[in-house]
Amino acid sequence: MVYERRKAFTRLPWDEDEEKLLLQLAGRNFTYKDILEEYFPHRTMASIKNKLRKLRKKLRLYNNTHRELKERMNKGWIKYAFFHKRRPLKVLDGYAGAGDSFISYLSFSREAYACELNGTRFEELVENVLQSTQGKIVYDHKIRDLRLIQIKSLKKNIVCVRGDVEKLASLLYVLGHRFDFVDLDPCGSCMFTLPLTVKIIKNGYLAVTYGQLQLARLKRIDVLRKECPWINEKMDMYETLTSLVKWTIYEGVRAQNYTDTKLICLKELVSLSPTAWNRSVIRGFFEIRPSPALADSLNHFEKEKSKVEFLVRNVRYGLRDTCYQ
Ligand SMILES: C[S@@+](CC[C@H](N)C(=O)[O-])C[C@H]1O[C@@H](n2cnc3c(N)ncnc32)[C@H](O)[C@@H]1O
Repeated sequence: MVYERRKAFTRLPWDEDEEKLLLQLAGRNFTYKDILEEYFPHRTMASIKNKLRKLRKKLRLYNNTHRELKERMNKGWIKYAFFHKRRPLKVLDGYAGAGDSFISYLSFSREAYACELNGTRFEELVENVLQSTQGKIVYDHKIRDLRLIQIKSLKKNIVCVRGDVEKLASLLYVLGHRFDFVDLDPCGSCMFTLPLTVKIIKNGYLAVTYGQLQLARLKRIDVLRKECPWINEKMDMYETLTSLVKWTIYEGVRAQNYTDTKLICLKELVSLSPTAWNRSVIRGFFEIRPSPALADSLNHFEKEKSKVEFLVRNVRYGLRDTCYQ
């Protein structure tokens, strides 16, 4: 297959009146086709869908059922980790957004880090953490591209970081931090952050969102191959998801050095919309343990492959095998 260079395209900005009209039309159940043809013929269908999704997200009208299921699932996963560790967890939420999930993790933790790249979301995150914990800011400092705000509340130590999660993970690794529970919940891909994340979990749990499945829907095989070299143009969504989950486990093999060997086990795979898995957000929950040797990691990876295939098949058929109920 020969890959083509993608051309940059210029976006036509939306003004406030257009945004209001779009929300009104959607609220009156106009179809996308009618909205496009009758009100916004100068735009594309993709631009209308995208704008509506962003506006709904901003107004928190987007995917309420999906959000509820995610909240329940996240709580189940952190409770499972807490139960197995039998002590407060050290937590990192790598793509924290405004902190909806992060705040629910705080009840199981004494030391927690939340990272967010977007400035507006970061302000919301700090505000929400301060409100929910009744805490106080004790430190606000910049280290290169990272802004760290430390919040103390009773016995909890919370750090909100504005910046790129990969940079934060590198810093935490160098400083010797090791985590019990890490959540990577990007809108797109977190594959570039995975190798470092595997290093900062010594014996713990990892939750991953496969946001890059949107790329498979858009047939961006070029970008997906960069994510995971096992993916090719002949694969459908089902095979692409299987490859991405296997690659997550394979990171345990790739993370190898003689002092830092890992085994990664898939505990659960969930589609946030069980009836339409191929249009939904899919999250995986993994356990990470130290491995005695590279050979053990490789043998474990071979065994884990069939479990991945079984759980991806369950997602495809809307079945759910949960590890914590
Ligand atoms: C799906 S949202 C997170 C939602 C959040 N986990 C929750 O449950 O409420 C993904 C967030 O990741 C942020 N983000 C994207 N790239 C990032 C990066 N490289 N480092 C840190 N945050 C990033 C985005 O700004 C966005 O707010």
